[in-house]
Amino acid sequence: MNSKFDATLDKVQARRNSTARSDALFERALKVMPGGSTRATIFFAPHPPYADHGTGARVVDVDGNALLDFTNNFFSAIHGHANPAILRAIAETAARGVSFGLPTETEVLLAEHICARSPAFEAIRFANSGSEAVLTAIKAARAATGRPAIAKIEGAYHGSYDHVEVSLDSRPGTWGEAAPAGTKYARGTPDAVLADTVVVPFNDATACVRLLEANADRLAGVLFDPLPSRVGLIPATPEFTAALRETTRRLGILLIVDEIVCFRLSHGGAHPLWALDPDLVTLGKIIGGGLPIGAVAGKRAVMDMFDVRPGKAPVPHGGTFTANPVTMAAGLASLEQLDRAAYDRLNALGERLRGRIAAAIAASGVPAQVTGMGSLFRVHPHARPIADYRSCYPSDAEKALLARLHPWLLEAGFLVTPNISGALSTPMTEADVDALAEALGEGLRWVARRAAA
Ligand SMILES: Cc1ncc(COP(=O)(O)O)c(C=O)c1O
Repeated sequence: MNSKFDATLDKVQARRNSTARSDALFERALKVMPGGSTRATIFFAPHPPYADHGTGARVVDVDGNALLDFTNNFFSAIHGHANPAILRAIAETAARGVSFGLPTETEVLLAEHICARSPAFEAIRFANSGSEAVLTAIKAARAATGRPAIAKIEGAYHGSYDHVEVSLDSRPGTWGEAAPAGTKYARGTPDAVLADTVVVPFNDATACVRLLEANADRLAGVLFDPLPSRVGLIPATPEFTAALRETTRRLGILLIVDEIVCFRLSHGGAHPLWALDPDLVTLGKIIGGGLPIGAVAGKRAVMDMFDVRPGKAPVPHGGTFTANPVTMAAGLASLEQLDRAAYDRLNALGERLRGRIAAAIAASGVPAQVTGMGSLFRVHPHARPIADYRSCYPSDAEKALLARLHPWLLEAGFLVTPNISGALSTPMTEADVDALAEALGEGLRWVARRAAA
């Protein structure tokens, strides 16, 4: 390691000294869990460190290494770890019973709080994860329209439900030419799933409208994230969102805006930023205060599909732990701390981070770029203009660069996702984001030197 690398480490004061306990835990885990842990999305080779505890913006692994945590458990812990108000809410609620076979007032309180944030949220139902929220929204769209299929953006992530996984792993050679091909993600995905999923390109209004029109008689809904991470974390253009809304409305297709991540962009969520009037919005992550959650909110006429009272024709939606009071209380405690000033501060910090990263990339001389919005960022290992999934897609050499950069950052004390994206949390400071930007510049220089050696 060169001296500048060491200087960066001194600055963030997070040199990793050992991984012995994590290594041993991984060996133990392999005996009882395929792959050594439970979540595909958090794995990276040889294995991730095992977390011991977290405080504020930092997580400490079982070997005592402190990491500045830009994953915040995949963008969900917006107040970082062990936030005092959330801990208090959890403890006080849990002391009165953690879940019941009855509804609770905490559920009503969180529903009222979220519905007050946007006129688009006329009613809401909770779920236990974002994936569950997405599949519940799709069920409602199918029930409301009597149609079976959904459309989604090529490459966009919406959780682990068969239909929304289509095209997640599309790559040159499989992704089709004239129109995006539906490709299977999980081996064994039934062909019927592909038949009922229409894949449309991001930010290409003409092609998207053509595909929606061609499939209108079987489309129940379009699932749409206006800032899709796997598509490059670039925002949808106003022209694209306007065309999407106009076309779906004209064809009687529901517009389901996935704000499971991008709800963190503003007090009212993402749809107001694009002047979108969605039929349904899926929520998750930050609305649970760090505990498992999902939600579907939207137009009363569609949400009424879930009304179970006599005489109604409900879409079944249950779940043993759905809307359990502990999660509801944690979510409320999280959102109550997020007033407009908190969003302004977090978004300004995100702006600063992306500016500093861009400057560090320029100074490094390595072809790379940073994208993102609000408190979200993603670093790409190339300088090509990014307009959609295909132009974002890295070559094998570029993937190898990311695969080296991620452990470099870990060594330097920074936890980001394996594709070098992340989110800010409210305990973070300007010094924290500046340290990440500097380390990224150093890391890029280091991996580029290694690749050239
Ligand atoms: C945009 C988006 N939708 C849906 C999901 C699924 O949420 P969950 O992991 O809570 O099932 C995610 C998770 O990362 C997501 O990023």
